[in-house]
Amino acid sequence: MRLHLHGNQGTLRAVIVLAFSLCCIIGFGHVEPAFGKNDSVTNIFRPLSQPAQEIKETSFLVLVVCAVIFIIVAGLLIYALVRFRDRAGDEAIEPPQVYGSNQIELAWTVLPILIVFVLILVTSRTIADIQNRKPPRGAVQATVVGHQWWWEIRYPELGIVTANELHVPATIGDRRQPAFLKLQSADVAHSFWVPQLAGKTDLIPNRENRMWIEPTHPGTYLGNCAEYCGTQHARMLIRVIVHTPDEFDRWVREQQQPALIATNAAEGSKAFFANSCVNCHTIRGTSAQGKFGPDLTHLMSRETLAAGAAPNTPDNLRFWVRDPQRIKLGCLMPNMQMTDTEVDQIVAYLQTLK
Ligand code: CUA
Repeated sequence: MRLHLHGNQGTLRAVIVLAFSLCCIIGFGHVEPAFGKNDSVTNIFRPLSQPAQEIKETSFLVLVVCAVIFIIVAGLLIYALVRFRDRAGDEAIEPPQVYGSNQIELAWTVLPILIVFVLILVTSRTIADIQNRKPPRGAVQATVVGHQWWWEIRYPELGIVTANELHVPATIGDRRQPAFLKLQSADVAHSFWVPQLAGKTDLIPNRENRMWIEPTHPGTYLGNCAEYCGTQHARMLIRVIVHTPDEFDRWVREQQQPALIATNAAEGSKAFFANSCVNCHTIRGTSAQGKFGPDLTHLMSRETLAAGAAPNTPDNLRFWVRDPQRIKLGCLMPNMQMTDTEVDQIVAYLQTLK
């Protein structure tokens, strides 16, 4: 097809400049958060753990190879468009057509095959490397079970059950302490994704997947469920709290304790055990042994409620106990129709679960 642009070249230039500026604006909007401050966003370009680091290196290689190809192809295309455009005074005949150059056809067949082959080899080496990693002695082992819409986290060897906040030690210096996770689902497919620590791994019903992380910097890392799993998929957040080895040991000792017998919240405790709270929640050391909802033994040690839907403050806790559906519509915990007094008492009791 021939382009008839003479007379409209001003418009063409304006369109190109506009498109270029738009690309720049959109591009820079993404570059700043991606390469900017370390702590600003969760970010695949700022890995602070294996295997995320290894994945980033492979992704960069793929990105660079694709970018070079794109620049060459787009550059030639733009060059041809501009250099051979229809000019005033050109004769209206078809230019000479060229067919069949063995060299060129060979080049554009063999080169892409080689490039794809290199990318396949590098990618499969990374995948194999990550999947075949064996837990060393002393590795922390945890089981993460996806529920609609929260994460159950069990450490079978340590006798700890918690929810939504995965605690692991950092690998510092030579003391390597990766955490190996078994991923299961209680209902539908979910996906565990903490961008700075590792790639996504799905949690699939009737199947056990595995993954591992080896963070090197203590801190809190945010992640999300990355597989649509129902209405509240967006409020299925995960926090990974990476401790120094000593801090982690202390956290383990605290979590291993059964719940303290509340002496200052007797009415609340009575209200809790009289309601159907106990059918769904476990509080270790008491008769509450429900398994459908999060373990509440050390509820107050968590930063958030309802899988990251709200910070764990007394006000939010009251709001949640009164009517969970207002924070997380569709979640399995119903409005228990309790009076204000009952809600206050139960919240007072829950606050003793440190
Ligand atoms: Cu769980 Cu999306």
